Amino acid sequence: MTSRFTRRQAPTGRSDFKDTARPSAPPASSVPDPSKAKPSSVKNDLLGAKLRIHSKLIDEIDLSDLDKLDDKALRRQVHALVAEIVREERLTMNAAEVVTFANAVFDEMTGLGPIEPLLQDDSICDILINGPGQVYIERNGELELAPVTFADDAHLLRIINRIVAKVGRRVDESHPMVDARLPDGSRFNAAIAPIAVDGPLVSIRKFSKQPLTIEKLVAFGAMPTCVAEFLNGAVNARVTTIISGGTGSGKTTLLNALSSSISHGERLITIEDAAELQLQQPHVARMETRPPNVEGKGEIKQRECVKNALRMRPDRVILGEVRGEEAFDMLQAMNTGHEGSMATIHANTPRDAITRLEQMVAMGGLNISEEAVRGQIASAIGLIVQATRLADGQRKVVSVSEVTGMEGNVIQMQEIFHFERTGTGPNGEVFGEHRASGLRPKCLDEMLTRGLHFDTGWFDPSLDLNREQA
Ligand SMILES: Nc1ncnc2c1ncn2[C@@H]1O[C@H](COP(=O)(O)OP(=O)(O)OP(=O)(O)O)[C@@H](O)[C@H]1O
Ligand SMILES: [Mg+2]
Repeated sequence: MTSRFTRRQAPTGRSDFKDTARPSAPPASSVPDPSKAKPSSVKNDLLGAKLRIHSKLIDEIDLSDLDKLDDKALRRQVHALVAEIVREERLTMNAAEVVTFANAVFDEMTGLGPIEPLLQDDSICDILINGPGQVYIERNGELELAPVTFADDAHLLRIINRIVAKVGRRVDESHPMVDARLPDGSRFNAAIAPIAVDGPLVSIRKFSKQPLTIEKLVAFGAMPTCVAEFLNGAVNARVTTIISGGTGSGKTTLLNALSSSISHGERLITIEDAAELQLQQPHVARMETRPPNVEGKGEIKQRECVKNALRMRPDRVILGEVRGEEAFDMLQAMNTGHEGSMATIHANTPRDAITRLEQMVAMGGLNISEEAVRGQIASAIGLIVQATRLADGQRKVVSVSEVTGMEGNVIQMQEIFHFERTGTGPNGEVFGEHRASGLRPKCLDEMLTRGLHFDTGWFDPSLDLNREQA
C-alpha cells in the first residue's frame, strides 16, 4: 500500500509541509508501535493539546484519502503526522505519550473519538455520557467520572451520527432517540435535543468478551454455591425461570450464566432487541426485533418474533426481556410444551414481577379474565430469581422464589432463598448473608427424578449459606 494522505496546506505557510515531500517526516517504521500504547492512559493534561491538534489535523488532511487506506496504513500515517506536529509545536511529550496522543487522533478520525479508549478497556462495563463535558464510567460496580471530554455538542453529535449511520439509522431533531449496536456487540443508546436538555446523552452497555459464568458469579459473591447449584438443577430440569431485577442489576448476565445448564441436545431460540446473550449450546437460533424505519414503518415487535419462534420447533424460547404484549404468547408457550423457557423482567420483587406480567398481558387487549391470566401465570412459571444492584455496587441474587399455584384468585409463592442484609461497612459496603427459608421447594421432586443430587443443608434456615460454602 503506497497511497498516503496529505495535509491540505501548511498551517504556518511553509511549503515543505506536504507529507510526501517532507524529508524530515519520520519514516513509518520509526513510529512507535501503536498497539503497544496503553489505551486507557489518556492523561488530563494531554486533552487540551489533543483537541487542538486533532481538529487542526482533520482540517488539514484530505479526508477523501481516508477511504483509500486500510486501517493499519492509516494508523501508521496518522502517527507519522502527529509526531511531526508534536515536534513543530514543541510539545513536551515522550515517545509513549506521542503514541497515546496519535491513537487518540486516529480514534477521532475513524472511531468513536475520546471514548474509544474506554471501549477498549475491559474493566469498564458502562459508559454514560451526559453532554460533551461529562463522561461517567462504571467499573467494579461503581460509577466514576472519566478523564474524557468532547469539544462541544457538535463534536459529540458527529460521533453519535457516525455510530448510528453504520447500522443504517439516523438521529436528528425529528428522531431524537436511537438504539444501535456497536461493531463489538455493545449496546448503544443516544438521545439528543430536544429530548436531551444539556447536550446529547449516550449510554453504552459494553459487551463482555468473556461473559460471566455461574462459577464467577459465585466467586464474586452474587450467590452461594448451593443457590447456584439449585438454580442450575432447576434450569436443567426445565423448571421455567424468570429473572427479575432493576436496570443494570445483572439480569442478562444471570440469564446467560444459568442457560449453560441447559442440555446441549435442545434447540433454543433467543429473541432480543439487541442480541446480547452468548449461549454456549451448539443449537441456538438467534432472533432480533427490528425498530421502525425513519418513516415509522417496518417495525417487527417481540410478539411477532415469539409467535414465529413457536413455528420453528424450539425446545425452549429465551426472551431477553419480556416487557409488553408478547407476555401472553410467552406464557402460552411455557404452558404448552416449551417448559424451561426463560426471560428477564424489570421488577423490584418477585411479587412485583407477577403483577407486571399480569399488566403486560392486559396491555395486549385480549379478552381474558383476570383469573384466567393468573391461572396461566401460576401454571407457566416455576421460579423467579430476583437480582439487585446494592448501594455499594455489588450485584446479588437477593431472592429465589417459587410459584406454587393458585389459592382462590391469588397466585401463591414461597421464598426458597433470600439475602439478608446484616450491616454496613465504614465505606458504605453492604454486609449480609444468604439464607434458606426452610421450605422445601416443590420443584425439587422434578429435579430429583432427573438425577440432581442435593444436600439437605441447602434448605436449612439456621445456616449462613455463604459461610457453608467457605
Ligand atoms: N454478579 C456480578 N458481579 C459483577 N458484575 C456483574 C454481575 N452481574 C452483572 N455484572 C455486570 O454488570 C453489568 C450489567 O449487567 P447486565 O447487563 O446483566 O444487567 P441487566 O440487568 O441485564 O441490565 P439492563 O436492565 O440494562 O438490561 C454488566 O457489565 C455485567 O458484566
Ligand atoms: Mg439486560
